[in-house]
Amino acid sequence: MSESPFLSKIGTKSAQRPMRVDLEIYYEAKENLYHSKENPEGTFPMNMAENHLCWEQLRERIQQVTRENDIPEWVASYTDPAGSPSFREAIAGFLGKFLFHCAVDPETIAFSGGATSVIEMTSFLLADPGETAVIPAPSYPVYTADIGTFPGVKRYDLQLPGDFSKSEYDFDLGLLEKAKAEIEKSGSNFRMLILTSPDNPTGRIYRESDLREIATWCMDNKVHLIVNEIYGLSQLDITHPDLRSEYDDPTHFVSFGQLMEELKSPFLHFWYSFSKDFGVSGFRIGLLHSHNMDLVQAYRNAGLSHSVSNYTQWVMQELLNDHTFLTSYFKDFQKLLTQAYVTFTKGLKKLGIQYNPSRGSLFVWMDLSEFLEEKSEAGEEKLWLEIYHQTGILLTPTQGFGHSQKGWYRAVITSIHPTEMEIALGRLEKFIQKKKEILTPEK
Ligand SMILES: Cc1ncc(COP(=O)(O)O)c(C=O)c1O
Repeated sequence: MSESPFLSKIGTKSAQRPMRVDLEIYYEAKENLYHSKENPEGTFPMNMAENHLCWEQLRERIQQVTRENDIPEWVASYTDPAGSPSFREAIAGFLGKFLFHCAVDPETIAFSGGATSVIEMTSFLLADPGETAVIPAPSYPVYTADIGTFPGVKRYDLQLPGDFSKSEYDFDLGLLEKAKAEIEKSGSNFRMLILTSPDNPTGRIYRESDLREIATWCMDNKVHLIVNEIYGLSQLDITHPDLRSEYDDPTHFVSFGQLMEELKSPFLHFWYSFSKDFGVSGFRIGLLHSHNMDLVQAYRNAGLSHSVSNYTQWVMQELLNDHTFLTSYFKDFQKLLTQAYVTFTKGLKKLGIQYNPSRGSLFVWMDLSEFLEEKSEAGEEKLWLEIYHQTGILLTPTQGFGHSQKGWYRAVITSIHPTEMEIALGRLEKFIQKKKEILTPEK
């Protein structure tokens, strides 16, 4: 495509490349949402990682904060670009109690506008343009733009064995050695390793023992290890009677924050945001936690253009200081999340569709490869559109997850109302049955 005479090179590229390939179709689907009475033929957008399960409960508590409290003086003025001290304290208390299960120093925390900005800022401050971030595949497609557009960091999709029958990663350090050699051969430098746990899209987690080994390897090789726990509290109750049998010998989810507290290395970092566990993606709050105080200071000094509105910080701070509310919120959320997962996977089992047993996240990662007309990106896009046009279910397109295996799709199970799940599954069932009839016609 030709360069715009009015824009920079990056400006031209950005004008021509949408943030996500499914945005337009997503907006179209949102204009035609399913409603049992008013629009029974409507759509079910299950592509965007949104969590609507407990919004009513959260909304009520937030409205109480704004109704019953005067806005404090500091809210209208400039504050620390890394986050107001009282907000950082509230977050440290929240992370310590609910995720890390150990004390957290508020000085090790810095905020910016959503995890997107945190990923961008961290990459910009840790890596030079042309250096490489390694990300086990399949993974969040937008990492590519977050680390690439402004920081100029390259993405290397680390191909793990394509076995989606396990809910925990078996991580082989040999893969990191191999990636390092390949990256160096290509003239770049392996600067960052990004893990997501629970993962997007598989819902898998990293075992504590593996995290320890990976952290040691990274520290020895001067590679920055960042664990993104944006789905850290979107955990499934795997003791549920309908799930128990799918998990052999599961280990406990241990937050990387706990290991960081013990190891206190300048090469270990943690990302979080309120977009998923709390379902408030529109609030745009993400955070970096690191014991690398140079990084935190750089974040503060460079971060004003990414900072979070003080009003939002204040509202969230009041919410996060109410641990009684949070305890009840997470109990309800994890129950509803587990129920949504059970309902959706029961539907898949009935249809004979394989999926990756998940430990957490908002997703089910499922294998529809038998319905691909061809095992290519074009074949995947065709099937994705066919599902949408025939069922109204908009799954996440496969593009950008970086995995070599074709035909696996992500469904976001928290983006539609639980009562609508059965209707969506009924439509999917009809679609799959029709496909199966075409593939194996009766003689
Ligand atoms: C792994 C991961 N990181 C970051 C983000 C972006 O989060 P935010 O909305 O807080 O920018 C997402 C959103 O889907 C995600 O799945």
